[in-house]
Amino acid sequence: MRLRNTRPLDFGSAHVIVTGGSSGIGLATARLFAGRGAKVSLIARGRERLVEAAKELSSAARAADVADQAGLTRAIAELEEEQGQPCDVLITSAGLARPGHFLELPDEVFRQMMEVDYFGTLYAIRAVAPGMVERGHGSVVAVSSAAGLIGIFGYSAYGPAKFAVRGLMESVRAELTPHGVHVGVVFPPDVDTPQLAEENQWKPQETRVVGGTIKPLTAQKVAAAVVDGIERRRFVICPDAGTRALARFGSVLLPFLNREFDRRVNVVRRSRPAEGLRSADS
Ligand SMILES: NC(=O)c1ccc[n+]([C@@H]2O[C@H](COP(=O)([O-])OP(=O)(O)OC[C@H]3O[C@@H](n4cnc5c(N)ncnc54)[C@H](OP(=O)(O)O)[C@@H]3O)[C@@H](O)[C@H]2O)c1
Repeated sequence: MRLRNTRPLDFGSAHVIVTGGSSGIGLATARLFAGRGAKVSLIARGRERLVEAAKELSSAARAADVADQAGLTRAIAELEEEQGQPCDVLITSAGLARPGHFLELPDEVFRQMMEVDYFGTLYAIRAVAPGMVERGHGSVVAVSSAAGLIGIFGYSAYGPAKFAVRGLMESVRAELTPHGVHVGVVFPPDVDTPQLAEENQWKPQETRVVGGTIKPLTAQKVAAAVVDGIERRRFVICPDAGTRALARFGSVLLPFLNREFDRRVNVVRRSRPAEGLRSADS
C-alpha cells in the first residue's frame, strides 16, 4: 500500500457536501463552511427547507433520500459536476431518531433507523471515498450520537444504527488514513434541533429521566466542533466534556452509569401503580 503525506485542507478552495444540510447540525456546519469560503452542496429530501438553505448559503443542492443508494450517488455526482470540483469534505448528518419501548416499537422502525442512519452514511461515503483515495486528499466525517457510545433506555432502534456508524468509521479510518484521507466521527449529546423536538414526542418517560436535566447543546456548538475536528484531523469529535468522557472511558464508566440509570428507571416504574410492585432489577 502506498502511503500518502497528509496536507491540510484549504477550506477556501474546498467543495464540501453535507447530507442533512437543510436543518439542524448539518445546516449549522454548512453555514460555517460557507463562511470560510468553501463551495457548499446540500442534500436532503424536503425541497422547501433545502431551497431556503441553499439560497441563504448560495450553495448547490439536490433533493435525495440517503437510504436510496442510486439516487444519492447520482445526486453527489451531479453536485460535483455543478460545482466543477469533486468532493473534498463529506459530512453525513442526515439522520432520524425514533425512541420508544423496545417491546412496543414496530419492526419497521428498527429497519428504518438502519436504512437512514447507517446505510445513508455508508452510501454517501462509498460515493466519494474512491475519488478521495485516488487524489490522496479529503475528509469524511459522520455524525453518530452519544447513543452510539452506550446503550440507553428507549433507544433500542436508534442506538444500534449509531453504534454501526461508529463501527464503520473505525474501520474506514484504518483503511483511508494511509491514503491521506481524514476520517472522523461525531458524538453529539442532545442538540436543540427539529429532530430533538420530534424525538421528544416519542420519548418514554424513563428515557427523559435517564437523560436528566442537561440542557441541549446548540447546533452551532456541534458545527464548530466538527470544523475544528477536521482542521485538527481528529477521529473522535465530541462537542462537550460529557460525551468526551463517555468516548474515552465509556466501558469503564458503564457499570456505574447503568446502576444510576437503573435507579432512575425504577423511580419512574414505582410511580406507576401497575408496575410499582416489581423493580427493574428484580
Ligand atoms: N439533535 C440531537 O439531539 C442529536 C443528537 C445526537 C445525534 N444527532 C444526529 O445528528 C444528525 C443531524 O440531526 P439534527 O438534530 O440536526 O436533525 P434535523 O434538524 O432534523 O436535520 C436532519 C436533516 O437530515 C435530513 N434527512 C433526514 N432523513 C433523511 C433522508 N432519509 N435522506 C436525506 N436527508 C434526510 C433532513 O431533511 P429532510 O427531512 O427534508 O430529508 C434534515 O436536513 C442526525 O444524524 C442525528 O441522528 C442528533
